[in-house]
Amino acid sequence: MTSLDGKKILIFGGSRGIGLGVAKAALERGAEVFIVGRSPEKLKAAEKVLGKSTKVHGIAADMTKEADVARAFKQAGAIDHFMTTAGTPPPNDSIGDIDIDATRRFIDEKMISSMTLAKHASKALKRGGSMTFTSGINKDKPPVPGGSVVAAVAQSFDAFARALALELGPTRVNVVSPGWVDTPMFDEIVGDAKHGYFEELAARLPSGRIAKPADVAPAYIYLMESDFTTGETVHIDGGHRLI
Ligand SMILES: NC(=O)c1ccc[n+]([C@@H]2O[C@H](COP(=O)([O-])OP(=O)(O)OC[C@H]3O[C@@H](n4cnc5c(N)ncnc54)[C@H](OP(=O)(O)O)[C@@H]3O)[C@@H](O)[C@H]2O)c1
Repeated sequence: MTSLDGKKILIFGGSRGIGLGVAKAALERGAEVFIVGRSPEKLKAAEKVLGKSTKVHGIAADMTKEADVARAFKQAGAIDHFMTTAGTPPPNDSIGDIDIDATRRFIDEKMISSMTLAKHASKALKRGGSMTFTSGINKDKPPVPGGSVVAAVAQSFDAFARALALELGPTRVNVVSPGWVDTPMFDEIVGDAKHGYFEELAARLPSGRIAKPADVAPAYIYLMESDFTTGETVHIDGGHRLI
C-alpha cells in the first residue's frame, strides 16, 4: 500500500456528493486535492466544507468539453491519482418511451466524457498512479421499468477499466460501484419521496442503513493506495446486490 500523504489527486465531481466525500478523506490522509465541477458556486461551497487550505484547489470545468478537460489537467499538472464521480441523473423511461436524443446525451456525458478524461489522465499521471471511475448499483439491480439505459452504461465501466488496465499498466485503472448513497443527486431525482425510499431499502439491506459519502469514500482511497489492484470493480453497497 502506498500512502496518500503528499500525493496530488484530481477529482472530477469533487464539488459535491460522493466526490466531495473522497476529497475530504484524501485530505485527512495528507493529500492535495483538485476538485472539479461545472458550477463555481458548488466549488465554493465545497471549499468551505473542506476548510481553507493550500491543499484544496477548485477548478470549474465541464467534462463534456475536451478543452475544459485539457485545461483542468493542465492546471493540476503532474498528478498521482485521478478519479471521477462526475455525472447527472440518468434517463429513467421504459425502453418503449425513451427519448433518443436525451439518451444519446446521457451516454455521451457519462461514457464519452470518461474516455476524454482517461485520455488526458493517461498523460498527466505519474508512474505508479491510478485512475478510478464510478459505476453503480443500477448495473446489478436496475430499476424496473426504466433501468436499461443506466444499467448498460454503468456495466460498461467494468470492461473499460479492464481494457485500460492492460493498455496503461503500470498505471492502475479501477471502478467503484456504490449502492444508494445519500447525496444531493438523490434529492434531485426523487425529491421529498427520498425518506420513504431510504426507509424501505434500509429495512431490507444487510447493512440496515443507507450510505453517506463517508461510507463509500474508503473504496476510492483503497484503490488509490493499493498498488497491486488493477482492472477491478469494488462494490460498496451495504449488501444491496444480495437482496
Ligand atoms: N448517489 C447515489 O446513490 C449513487 C449510487 C450509485 C452510483 N452513483 C453515481 O455516482 C456519481 C456521483 O453521484 P453523486 O450522488 O455524488 O452526485 P452529485 O451529488 O450530483 O455530484 C455530482 C458531481 O459531479 C459534478 N458534475 C456533474 N456533471 C459534470 C460535468 N459535466 N463536468 C464536470 N463535473 C460534473 C457535479 O458538479 P456540477 O454540477 O457543478 O458540474 C458534482 O460535483 C453519479 O454519476 C452517479 O450515477 C451515485
